[in-house]
Amino acid sequence: MTLKIAFSGTGHISRVHARAAQSVDGVDLVAVVNHQSPSMADYAAQFDISRQYATVQELLRAGDVDVLIVSTPNYLHAPQAIAALEARVHVMVEKPMSLNTREAERMLRASKQSGAKLMVAHCWRFDEEVNWIKQQIDDGKLGKILRTKGYGVHVNWGPGGWFVEARYAGGGALADMGVHAIDVARYFLGDPQPLSVYARISTDYTNYDVDDSGALWINWAGGATSIVESGWWWPHADGPEASTQLYGSKAFAQLFPTRLEVPDRVAETVKTIDPGFPPVREEQCPQIMYDRQMAHFIGCIREDLRPNPGGAEGLVNMQIIDAAFESSRSGQVIYL
Ligand SMILES: NC(=O)c1ccc[n+]([C@@H]2O[C@H](COP(=O)([O-])OP(=O)(O)OC[C@H]3O[C@@H](n4cnc5c(N)ncnc54)[C@H](O)[C@@H]3O)[C@@H](O)[C@H]2O)c1
Repeated sequence: MTLKIAFSGTGHISRVHARAAQSVDGVDLVAVVNHQSPSMADYAAQFDISRQYATVQELLRAGDVDVLIVSTPNYLHAPQAIAALEARVHVMVEKPMSLNTREAERMLRASKQSGAKLMVAHCWRFDEEVNWIKQQIDDGKLGKILRTKGYGVHVNWGPGGWFVEARYAGGGALADMGVHAIDVARYFLGDPQPLSVYARISTDYTNYDVDDSGALWINWAGGATSIVESGWWWPHADGPEASTQLYGSKAFAQLFPTRLEVPDRVAETVKTIDPGFPPVREEQCPQIMYDRQMAHFIGCIREDLRPNPGGAEGLVNMQIIDAAFESSRSGQVIYL
């Protein structure tokens, strides 16, 4: 059966998702939603989409749609996703899943009650370098993972527009960039529950009413610890705009440039396992990553499987973000 897919939002990432949908067999791009008609008309022409609506409610009233991809500013994620889920339309929603934990819980509940699937677009779970490291972990090459260090940082750059207004975005660099680093750490660790979060979140490089700097310390069930940094306009990052390192009991692994370092304590040598990815990525966020993400979601709908990352994974990331802000405000460790 062909699945009819609609898109809410017609900006940067929505066009990436439309291209991804075009790459999956048995998917028809049928509708687009945006309150601004010129952008919607341009999008509809680019992707040969016939139906255009000013609101998600209008789309749902018209019906004849199976899937909605929500790529709007963060404050619209929960209301648009919940409306679609309640109408039994499957939803993939962009990160951050919502403005806060409360909204994320409501989204998860709407999905459970209607049976419509909810996926959160934590796209790095579909990157081939991330999954090469995940395979090394699953094969036991790192031993037990004790610590991860990761970041999402824009150097001498940051977004503008709705991204830097709290009422539209919720948070700043943590919600925008840090959430990727949190999700990647959790994916590598096998999705443990967070036990506690200690953080300092601040606005150091801009005068936005959202954060541009964050440092988090997350302790996980099972004993691992993750250090995560988020930033916009920082003068430096240790590598490309996102990277994660893993310290295992047997080896060290790093993303971008991606490799494994396996020490031999007796021989006092270190063997580097290089999977052969280019040392500098041509594109940090390649289209193929989003194509795989879309293929996973469509496959889960067809085979009636739970998408991963689903609502539950998105919710944990929101719990960590909320705890980080609370910790930063209070100066205390927040126990979850
Ligand atoms: N996973 C990734 O790699 C990635 C990359 C970029 C953005 N994102 C996320 O995707 C979302 C969108 O980001 P973007 O960079 O595409 O932003 P953008 O500003 O380019 O696009 C947002 C779109 O939403 C539209 N919009 C605003 N109000 C609307 C409404 N009421 N109904 C329908 N459409 C409406 C805007 O007109 C615009 O087309 C954000 O949540 C962001 O965090 C994820």
